[in-house]
Amino acid sequence: MEKVTLRVFRGDIHGGHMVSYEVPVQPSMVVLDAIHYIQQHIDPTLACRWNCKAAKCGSCSAEIDGKPRLMCKTRVDQFPSGVITVGPMRTFPLIKDLVTDVSWNYRVAAKIPPLQPKPEVAGKPFRMQQADVDRIQEFRKCIECFLCQDVCHILREHNRQDAFFGPRQMVRIAALDMHPMDNLNRREQLVGEAGVGMCNITKCCTEVCPEHIHITDNAIIPLKERVADDYFDPVTRILRRIGVI
Ligand code: SF4
Ligand code: F3S
Ligand code: FES
Repeated sequence: MEKVTLRVFRGDIHGGHMVSYEVPVQPSMVVLDAIHYIQQHIDPTLACRWNCKAAKCGSCSAEIDGKPRLMCKTRVDQFPSGVITVGPMRTFPLIKDLVTDVSWNYRVAAKIPPLQPKPEVAGKPFRMQQADVDRIQEFRKCIECFLCQDVCHILREHNRQDAFFGPRQMVRIAALDMHPMDNLNRREQLVGEAGVGMCNITKCCTEVCPEHIHITDNAIIPLKERVADDYFDPVTRILRRIGVI
């Protein structure tokens, strides 16, 4: 393949359309390289967000051929037709071209209380079982690309930002709730404003995660189980009420 055609969304909140650009293909070229080529050689007004070009900063999220992906991790040679469509994430308000306003995610993150260490370990070094380390290590790989938030139908099609924090924030809460030294009961927030019950386990979030975090199986489903134990298991409720657990 000598050339590829990029059909790129150009526009802002007032509207927009797809514009085609012909880009010469280089060995190992990724979509972000092609976007940079357009900026350098064809139209410097094309807006995109990026930072590391190493799939680690989470900035270059876009919808490539309709699927949420990182532009810096998507090779152009995986599209044999030679035509690639590139658009902004649809779930978030558009700023310009490929750049969206993802600030809602940070506002939601600010509602999640940080780790509250148990009094006996507060301010002191503590030991953790390797199994506990392994379990939450996966969640710490999140690069905050928000591709999972983009694809989740509760946020994307149903616009329920008022009722669901989204899969990325479920990962954040899971990392805290499963930490053996965290002393905070997060279940009330989970069933309340975080809306864990809104997730109906479609697993689309897991499919698009570039860090291959098992968002649904390892974060959301265990959180749902913990909430169910607390709120719906009669034995647990009685034991908690009489202070046994
Ligand atoms: Fe991105 Fe995965 Fe983190 Fe979601 S969980 S923000 S898809 S890295
Ligand atoms: Fe949404 Fe993922 Fe649940 S895509 S519905 S948070 S499994
Ligand atoms: Fe950093 Fe793509 S530029 S993740």
